[in-house]
Amino acid sequence: MEHKLEELKKDALQAVKAAKDKLHLEEVANKLLGRKQGELTILLKGLKDLSDEMRKSAGQLANEVKQTIEEAINVKRNTFEAEEMKTRLVEEKIDISVPALPKKTRGHLHPNTIVQRDLEDLFSSMGFTVLDGPELESDYYNFTALNIPETHPARDMQDTFYIKGHANWVMRTHTSPMQVRAMQKYGAPLRVVVLGKCFRNEATDVRHEHTFYQMEGLVVDENITFSHLKGVLEIVAKHLYGDDTQVRLRPKFYPFVEPGVNGEVTCFTCQGKGCRLCKNSGWLEIFGAGLVHPNVLKEGGIDPEKYQGFAFGFGLTRLAMLQYGIDDIRLLESGNLSFLEQF
Ligand code: PHE
Repeated sequence: MEHKLEELKKDALQAVKAAKDKLHLEEVANKLLGRKQGELTILLKGLKDLSDEMRKSAGQLANEVKQTIEEAINVKRNTFEAEEMKTRLVEEKIDISVPALPKKTRGHLHPNTIVQRDLEDLFSSMGFTVLDGPELESDYYNFTALNIPETHPARDMQDTFYIKGHANWVMRTHTSPMQVRAMQKYGAPLRVVVLGKCFRNEATDVRHEHTFYQMEGLVVDENITFSHLKGVLEIVAKHLYGDDTQVRLRPKFYPFVEPGVNGEVTCFTCQGKGCRLCKNSGWLEIFGAGLVHPNVLKEGGIDPEKYQGFAFGFGLTRLAMLQYGIDDIRLLESGNLSFLEQF
């Protein structure tokens, strides 16, 4: 018995020493001290079969062996735990001297788009259909169909980009060509808005840009009067600049409306008192409008004896500039992120 105990102790200490990791060590511990199958446990159980005298000395040795083995296992276990802690500390260490991660950048809408969507929502809520149209437009829709014949000086009002080798095609100078396209396609009655890019061959400066956005509105129905036009324009003005905003219409010539007007709203910065933005006039010029010229209705296939219409055009780019206090139109098409990221 005593011999067996010595043997077991020797083997056990070796096995503990050889354990490569915590799991392995627990296996060894279980094999030796497990409550049912442990080698030492079985030996200890055998003590009761010995004579009193032998049991006494063997029992003492057995206890010593058990203690020694348990101690060896504990020491080894502690070493593993300390190592584990050390690697965790290294792995989880936060280096506060490392520079911060770059800010995640998220896309956002261009100021033109924000203004565009806002107005699309407003007009949809009033039963208007939202259309877009070709940016490369025929000379016919851009001018002729809008009561601007070929030799008419009104063509010079708009500096047009013509397409080289294709004399009948232009980059649309306004959204008005969609008036006739919409009439031809949908007939009367009609309620549409058209929003999109327009192009003019301008010498660019803070107020002029070759590419800009417009919004066109067209209503055709029976018994349309100038009051309908003014009513809609007032809704837009109040929506944009608040309930106290007033609209002022003054005669202006556009070949495709009769009568034609130039529309102004009370300046929202000074409430009409006069400031730098409105050049001390108290008014901001923001749209062109009028009752649709009978020739244009005819071109759209609509009988001017039966139907009337009104049309208006806003410079969307100008609205965005006023809304956000942008003082150089060229920033809008610049792709300059330090400008764009402010919206
Ligand atoms: N198309 C005109 C422009 O670009 C604006 C306008 C639209 C005027 C509709 C009258 C009616 O200046």
